[in-house]
Amino acid sequence: MSVSAREVKAKVPLALVTIRPARLFDINEIMRIERESFREAYPRGIFLVFLENNPDTFLVAEYNGKVVGYVMAYLRPDLEGHIMSIAVDSAYRGNGIGSALLTEAIERLIERGARYIGLEVRVSNEGAIRLYERFGFKKVKRIIGYYSDGEDAYYMLLPVEEWRGS
Ligand SMILES: CC(C)(COP(=O)(O)OP(=O)(O)OC[C@H]1O[C@@H](n2cnc3c(N)ncnc32)[C@H](O)[C@@H]1OP(=O)(O)O)[C@@H](O)C(=O)NCCC(=O)NCCS
Repeated sequence: MSVSAREVKAKVPLALVTIRPARLFDINEIMRIERESFREAYPRGIFLVFLENNPDTFLVAEYNGKVVGYVMAYLRPDLEGHIMSIAVDSAYRGNGIGSALLTEAIERLIERGARYIGLEVRVSNEGAIRLYERFGFKKVKRIIGYYSDGEDAYYMLLPVEEWRGS
C-alpha cells in the first residue's frame, strides 16, 4: 500500500516554530494550506485585502523556512476579536502549532482592546470544537445553514476575563 506524503505526520519541536505576521510573499503557501484544509476555500483576493487591513493579526507559523499554518483574525468595531480562519498544514497537525497560532492571535486581539473572542465553526468539525473548548470558548448559538453547502455553524465565544484567568 502506498502512503502519500500528506499522510506522513511530521514531529515538530514547538521551540523551532516561529509565529510571525504574514507577509505578501507568504500568500501562495497560505493558499495551499487553505485549499487542502477547507471545502470552501476563501479566494486569494480575500487574503490580500485581509493582509492589507489587518497586518498585525494575520499570523503565520513558520518551520524550517516553510509556512506550516496561519490564522486570520481582526478586531471588530463592537470589540469582538474575531477568528476568521485558522489552519495548519495537514502533515504538521497535532504538534501544538494550531494552539500556538490561536494563543498569539488572542493575545494580540486583547492588546488591541477585544472584550470577547468569537468564531464560527462547522458543527461537524469536532476536532476544532474540542480545541476551542480547551481554550475556554463556549458554544453560544447554532447558526442554521451558515455555510454555502447548507451546514450549520456554532458561534463560539471566549470572554477575555476567562482567558486572563486561565
Ligand atoms: C484545527 C487545526 C487548526 C488545529 O491545528 P493543530 O496544529 O493540529 O492543533 P494543535 O496541535 O495545537 O492541537 C490539536 C488539538 O486540536 C484538536 N483537533 C483539531 N483537529 C483535529 C482532528 N482533525 N482530529 C483530532 N483532533 C483535532 C484536538 O483537540 C487536538 O487535541 P490533542 O492534541 O489533545 O489531541 C487543524 O486541525 C486544521 O488545520 N484543521 C483543518 C482546518 C480547520 O478545521 N480549521 C478550523 C476551522 S473553524
